Amino acid sequence: MKIVLAYSGGLDTSVIVKWLKETYDAEIITFAADVGQEEELKGLDKKAKKTGASKHYTLDLVEEFASDFIFPMIRANAIYEGQYYLGTSIARPLIAKAQVDIAHKEKADTVAHGATGKGNDQCRFELTYMALDPKLQIIAPWKMEEYRALFPGRAEMIAYCAEHKIPVEASLKKPYSMDRNLLHISYEAGILEDPWFDPTTEANKGMFKLSVSPEDAPDKPEYVEIDFEAGNAVAVNGKKLSPGKLLKALNKLGGKHGIGRVDLVENRFVGMKSRGVYETPGGTILMQAHRQVESLTLDREVLQLRDGLIPKYAQLVYNGFWFAPEREALQALVDESQRYVTGTVRLKLYKGNIITCGRKSKFSMYDDKIASMEGVKSWYNQSDATGFIRLNGLRLRARNLAQGGPKIG
Ligand code: ARG
Ligand code: SIN
Repeated sequence: MKIVLAYSGGLDTSVIVKWLKETYDAEIITFAADVGQEEELKGLDKKAKKTGASKHYTLDLVEEFASDFIFPMIRANAIYEGQYYLGTSIARPLIAKAQVDIAHKEKADTVAHGATGKGNDQCRFELTYMALDPKLQIIAPWKMEEYRALFPGRAEMIAYCAEHKIPVEASLKKPYSMDRNLLHISYEAGILEDPWFDPTTEANKGMFKLSVSPEDAPDKPEYVEIDFEAGNAVAVNGKKLSPGKLLKALNKLGGKHGIGRVDLVENRFVGMKSRGVYETPGGTILMQAHRQVESLTLDREVLQLRDGLIPKYAQLVYNGFWFAPEREALQALVDESQRYVTGTVRLKLYKGNIITCGRKSKFSMYDDKIASMEGVKSWYNQSDATGFIRLNGLRLRARNLAQGGPKIG
């Protein structure tokens, strides 16, 4: 048996390496993805091998994450339950895909992950494994009773590491759980489980890593211009940047001005409600900017059709159906709509706000001359509007006559 494990080098996955090795008498290959979490990944190779892995991979996936996962999602303007920019959700299929690629390269028959049986991440990992290789075996220790019995708490895990000489930093456990990548940081669990708990107080301020609070942001607003081509951001303040670098630049700028914090209660795929606090500075700016270019360049019906599909698209990403035929079909529609979403947006960042200050596009359909130009005079004739409204009102008149007027108040 050969197992490829998604590994971070933290307490959880360190214990899992050893436990897998002992329980299955298997060869363990560990894999860590750099998705922009800004953690030290250098020592992981050594650490994994010391813990029992025979081989370790660290892969830099930052640019692929930005261009093939985050950008397609922004082209769709995806947002879950009206508030969540899907920062963790969109990283999981990429990590799982890279893990499957390693399994193939190493001729491994099994993949493993350290997500719990209570959350969304397990769904995203496992649905991706299944979509990409139906034959792979999946081990998720947290969903096995014997594993949970061995490790009812953190103390047992630390003791296990001491016993097996597994190097783990005795860092103090944070009173919440964090997941960071290029698009966001999420905070949940622990003290945040009480949805009335206020994370923005002076005492809890240190939790936030990507942004200052709006009240601490500069008193002077800052302008930023973003260029888009076919729905993708390509430059900031006139400077061309790769997708990964562009997001990093916007994260910095947005963070400085307290942009992109949200605090919400969301519905997990497995059924329960969960409170999450998020920082998505660059992604929030990009999403608003993208919409401005769309407002000039998208046909009304296409825009409204796409907007109607946002909840569905976001739900698919959230639930882990990135590599699913319905997401691909929606993506094809979205991408077709983005052909002329090219232009520039000017925004002002100020104390947590993104203020739109202008947009332009060589494909703009906004034309104040349509109503007045000589040649196109016949395109819009005010007299036509009389019949237009009369026919649209026909059914409202019919309803009133047949069933009485609408309910008022
Ligand atoms: N609730 C968010 C989501 O489902 C964040 C999950 C964070 N995951 C984690 N392992 N800390 O996308
Ligand atoms: C986990 O339970 O592993 C993290 C939270 C989530 O997946 O939603």
